[in-house]
Amino acid sequence: MQKSFCFRDFLTQSLIASQLQLATHSLRCLLANTTSKVNNYYGVIMNVMFVDDESNVLSGLRRMLRGQRTWNMEFVESGAAAIELLQHKPMDVIVTDMRMPLMNGAELLSKIAKLHPNTVRLVLSGQSEQEKILRSIGPAHQFMSKPCDPDLLIGTIDRACTLKNHLQNESLCNIVSQVSFLPSLPEIYRSLVEELESDTSSMDKIGSMIGSDIAMSAKVLQLVNSSFFGLAQHVSCPKHAASLLGLNVIRPLVLLAGAFSQCEDPDLDGYSLKGSIRYSMSVATLARSIMASQTESFHLIDDAYIAGMMHDVGRLILAVNMSERYQQVIYAARDEQTTIWDKEFAMLGTTHAEVGAYLLGLWGFPNSVVEAVAFHHQPSKSKNKAVSPLTAVHAADSILTSLTRVPQQESIGDIHYLNEVGVADCMDEWKLQAIKLR
Ligand SMILES: [Fe+2]
Repeated sequence: MQKSFCFRDFLTQSLIASQLQLATHSLRCLLANTTSKVNNYYGVIMNVMFVDDESNVLSGLRRMLRGQRTWNMEFVESGAAAIELLQHKPMDVIVTDMRMPLMNGAELLSKIAKLHPNTVRLVLSGQSEQEKILRSIGPAHQFMSKPCDPDLLIGTIDRACTLKNHLQNESLCNIVSQVSFLPSLPEIYRSLVEELESDTSSMDKIGSMIGSDIAMSAKVLQLVNSSFFGLAQHVSCPKHAASLLGLNVIRPLVLLAGAFSQCEDPDLDGYSLKGSIRYSMSVATLARSIMASQTESFHLIDDAYIAGMMHDVGRLILAVNMSERYQQVIYAARDEQTTIWDKEFAMLGTTHAEVGAYLLGLWGFPNSVVEAVAFHHQPSKSKNKAVSPLTAVHAADSILTSLTRVPQQESIGDIHYLNEVGVADCMDEWKLQAIKLR
């Protein structure tokens, strides 16, 4: 597989293409089509496997995908055949049905997650199989429903292929691919379980609890925005996402499928889960307010909020999954008085911004959110020079950092970028907003 792919170019290409096609496509199809062009642009040949016990479904997929010159495709009729083939031929992406005899899709994906963590795992399943879908919420990266629009199927696979190439550090790529759930704080998790187990549980309360936690918000947004639920519009508000899923889905999701997980704070010197969540929620609130001062688009305002909330999930992943090494990175940044992302790049070969963007891309978050997370410390590296969720998150993060005086960061923001997008003069006003919101 070609390894010279550049994530920054991917995002730039996606964005330019997405702006060109905005008039004629829904956001979801737009994401699909843009990434398809990017993959063709780089000419990467990817291995993609389809698993379904119904031979007519596989024949239909074969016919539908006949023109895909950038994929090397395999079609197999059982989970056992898929595992057997994977032993000889690594796959970049697997797309599986859920209801299959002997080994169902959830069991197959769990095995693949352990044996071949680097394979992107997608579900293509019938609408009637909601219960099985809930069981695969851990090992699956994304869900699609049958019958699937060809553009959506091709775009989702292409986007997964393209993202997969961006993390040059293979062991980190494996770590991120295996992340099924982000950790929630134990107190929020326990309160949610109590509320769900109560005879008088209130959807409003549950929605608020989910919306106050980054991990839970990410999971409900991942699920509700999957094409499996067939929503016409992209949902960016976690509370709204929770209400759309409803108690009948949330309850088994949490109590039976274990879709949310609690985690003790890794409590590194210089990083705490609790502090990071509190700070990210502040960035989200300020980013939403900044975006609202620049546009009336609810999509952009909500995306700015979500991007603010998720902007440091990469740190969370690194702190929880490689705590000792990450502690060294924090100490090195402190000793050398440099930024944490500089040290991450020097010592890990990537930054928390890229790690977080990779996970959110794998989980099907929109490009504007992925872009904002990827470039939140270095927005000049994005070729998007319009005011966007990236602008809002970068400004909010910089302002709040300056107010909280974190020692590793210069806190005035990227003035060159802020000038380029025409908002440098707004920083003082946004700073006053930040003080009011505190
Ligand atoms: Fe950050």
